[in-house]
Amino acid sequence: MSADAAQPARVTIPMLAQKKTAREPIAMVTAYDYPGAQVAEAAGADVVLVGDSGAMTVLGYDSTVPVSVDEMLMLTRAVRRGLVAPLLVGDLPFGSYEASDEDAVRTAQRFVKEAGCDAVKIERGGTTVARARAIIDAGIPVMGHVGLTPQTVTALGGYRSQGRTAESALQVARDALALQQAGCFSLVFEAIPSEATAAIVPRLDIPVIGIGAGPAADGQVLVFHDLLGIYGGHAARFVKRYADLRSTMVDGVTAYVDDVRSGGYPEAAHGYAMEPGEVERLRTLLSESPDQP
Ligand code: KIV
Repeated sequence: MSADAAQPARVTIPMLAQKKTAREPIAMVTAYDYPGAQVAEAAGADVVLVGDSGAMTVLGYDSTVPVSVDEMLMLTRAVRRGLVAPLLVGDLPFGSYEASDEDAVRTAQRFVKEAGCDAVKIERGGTTVARARAIIDAGIPVMGHVGLTPQTVTALGGYRSQGRTAESALQVARDALALQQAGCFSLVFEAIPSEATAAIVPRLDIPVIGIGAGPAADGQVLVFHDLLGIYGGHAARFVKRYADLRSTMVDGVTAYVDDVRSGGYPEAAHGYAMEPGEVERLRTLLSESPDQP
């Protein structure tokens, strides 16, 4: 079978490594559905993450903790259907990989087999390092995630930046190096002081994608609903809003609701017409048998 010339080239893991070497920033964004994936594709994103942030942004949970594997798989499958070129990373939700290597491999395999992911992401250092190694040994690429890890936010004492002291930044570096040694192809650094990122990134060979980790990371990621101003909840300080779609959407739906109430919608152009003479025939038929079902 020959490759379709019209299809954009698919981003691969070696391509991301080359970008790091060439100091070309990697652009990653989250998506949770088919239209979101198409937008990320059209925008030329390198990597699309179906983040468990979708628990909050599209499913309405108050944290990422409650979201299930099946819910994440449904979101991820929709994104897969809308995506061609970007590398697709699925986020393993809390409770689906921590307890054992077997759990980790089985869950990662579902994201590849059932949702078409190119790679999966898991959070934290510690025992997650062994889980990452097990998934990688099973042939599935893994992206690590250190610093602020929302799945274990209670243990971290809240949504606060990590690595603000030398000791705490050293722990971030140790987790990152351990995940690299386990074979991760990339890491997310979340909410880490810019100076700490700048000190740690040169010690890593794999690309680091930052979110609230300053400009020294090899790439950046933002949550789709945050950057487009769709999500109505709290936004972290690292969020930059590139659009205010929520108010555009509210304005649009309000105009529609007002139109329906005032009779402004539908107009003739929004309807269908019968063939000439058919409405007269219908009236005759109705008057001949008005009460019959
Ligand atoms: O769930 C998510 O969206 C993430 C990104 C913030 C990296 O983990």
